[in-house]
Amino acid sequence: MDLHNNTILITGGTSGFGLEFASRLLALGNTVIITGRNTQKLQETQQQLPAVHTIQSDVSKAEDIVALYDQVTRQFPALNMIINNAGEMRKLSLNQPHELSDITREVEINLMGPIRMVQQFLPHLKTKPKAVILNVTSGIAFMPFPISPIYSASKSGLRAYTQALRVQLIKTSIKVIELVAPGSSTPLNDKFIEEDGFNAKTLMAPEKIVDAAIQGMKNDKDEIYPGLAGLMRVMSRVAPKLMLSQAGKIGRLRCMVRSKVESCWPLAYASNRLITIHYLESFQ
Ligand SMILES: NC(=O)c1ccc[n+]([C@@H]2O[C@H](COP(=O)([O-])OP(=O)(O)OC[C@H]3O[C@@H](n4cnc5c(N)ncnc54)[C@H](OP(=O)(O)O)[C@@H]3O)[C@@H](O)[C@H]2O)c1
Repeated sequence: MDLHNNTILITGGTSGFGLEFASRLLALGNTVIITGRNTQKLQETQQQLPAVHTIQSDVSKAEDIVALYDQVTRQFPALNMIINNAGEMRKLSLNQPHELSDITREVEINLMGPIRMVQQFLPHLKTKPKAVILNVTSGIAFMPFPISPIYSASKSGLRAYTQALRVQLIKTSIKVIELVAPGSSTPLNDKFIEEDGFNAKTLMAPEKIVDAAIQGMKNDKDEIYPGLAGLMRVMSRVAPKLMLSQAGKIGRLRCMVRSKVESCWPLAYASNRLITIHYLESFQ
């Protein structure tokens, strides 16, 4: 895939992978438009990357997606690539009461957002000789992470949807790519990490993940597995029950000790990673 002279829309481009994608794709000579909910973060990103175009838009709102489509296709009719990156992840105890309007938030952003984006932009993308839809899923798509149950559901759902979409678009000019990202040192994780004193440096740098993604796109890959994501894929097949029970047990034990589910996420994630490495080593 030629990664020059494309017009690329990235949802959630103000931090983490989205910001890194924007910076790298601009440097390769593409036109890049990013979205986000927070106007201040959009302004800061604009100052950091003067060539980037910013639009305030919430991917969990259908009406925002329609307005985004109208503005982008009017201002940037050459648009031929969409990166569905915007996402949110919470640690959440299902044993606690939650408002029904709030409990599904990750599904609305991480799963319904990309589904609606694709549906809205598909007719436009089909008019382009070469187009791309890249969906950002997660290693957690393979292996439910009990302490983030709604996030887990959203990412495995997005993976299933992405695979089905690829089959349905097989005879079109649109390539469907899945970036299966491992845990990374981005603000998505920072908020958990700071609470529990977890060392963010143990996670993969977003620069490396986006590096792998760009390499994978250049090499026409359908699915891209940077770092531990590939190992999680293997382990989810080799020992799925064990991986799930270990991840769940560790979170639960710590939660019982601290009586505070909200503070358990980093340990469970770290343990999950360690278990993955341990079992892989035992197979070598
Ligand atoms: N970091 C990881 O460990 C990891 C691992 C696997 C997969 N992922 C996935 O990678 C993607 C990017 O995550 P990240 O780690 O780069 O997170 P991040 O640094 O927190 O960035 C998230 C971006 O999405 C935007 N966003 C959030 N909700 C939005 C909404 N409703 N509408 C529009 N924009 C929204 C945020 O801006 P606003 O808040 O201003 O809207 C921000 O620009 C997500 O899909 C995440 O699930 C991350």
